[in-house]
Amino acid sequence: MDCPIPNAVVPVAGLGTRLLPATKSQPKEMLPVARKPVVQYVAEELARNGVRNLLFVTGRGKAAIENHFDPDPWLAESLRGSAGRAEARRALDFERLGLNILYTRQSVQRGLGDAILYGESFAGRDPFIVALGDSIIGLHGDSLACRRMAEAFLGHKADVVIAVEEVAPQDVRSYGIVSPAGDGETFPISTVVEKPSPEDAPSRLAVSGRYVFSPMIFEMIRNVAPDRRGEVQVTDAIRAIARQGGMVLGVKLRPEEKRYDIGNLASYFATFLAFAVADPEYGAQVRGVMRRMLMRHPEAPG
Ligand code: G1P
Repeated sequence: MDCPIPNAVVPVAGLGTRLLPATKSQPKEMLPVARKPVVQYVAEELARNGVRNLLFVTGRGKAAIENHFDPDPWLAESLRGSAGRAEARRALDFERLGLNILYTRQSVQRGLGDAILYGESFAGRDPFIVALGDSIIGLHGDSLACRRMAEAFLGHKADVVIAVEEVAPQDVRSYGIVSPAGDGETFPISTVVEKPSPEDAPSRLAVSGRYVFSPMIFEMIRNVAPDRRGEVQVTDAIRAIARQGGMVLGVKLRPEEKRYDIGNLASYFATFLAFAVADPEYGAQVRGVMRRMLMRHPEAPG
């Protein structure tokens, strides 16, 4: 089923400094999570939601992402001959996703808000989805949250829709945190604060890597002053929209739509384990290994 908002911008230009040394010469979005690189789950998730056009905003050192999605007839042909490789061949057949994949490049790292600006001519006058390339929604990207957000955006004539998920108090300083002005699965947001301290956080509802924006966001981003690290934060542009009376909605991710964040080591490790134990072929074996490790070393498995 097509998504009522068929265009998605996927920023993948971030430096991945929180994941060094793994990301020294490799994009964080290409880190493997069990069988696939992170960004493949993101593309599959968007295709499942009915997105048709996907613009990657890449940057320095991100060529591996383009290489990954390029068709490779030689590889496909070589897999055809080998027994048991049908699954790998299917997973590499990106044409089955029905996505029109485009690329543009943020040459200088100026933050997420600036990366989104690179989607302006792609989006044109239409609303569009933003899906961060270092987050997967749902196990194996198996969620329809983006479609629900698109429906909420159009149904309520919103200006911004943000996916949110409750995080632990100590984690609010890692995310944008929204201030809810209502209840329910879809609710109005009065403001959003970027990475507050637990004392200053207006709630524990974290901005979770999926947004729907009206094209008004571009002008608002252009008006945002860079933060002290020289980065233009999209959170500041969203706050400005809310301040001037625009409709900013939150959509809560459902329990089965857990957000898997690959942006820091702790959640990358947890994500890898969750996807590995759920692997249809090797999951039982991995669970067995983990059980034995935990029995031997309940505090520090080794
Ligand atoms: C960005 C956003 C933040 C959001 C987070 C989700 O931060 O600025 O509001 O909660 O993504 O991953 P970053 O992780 O790029 O520092």
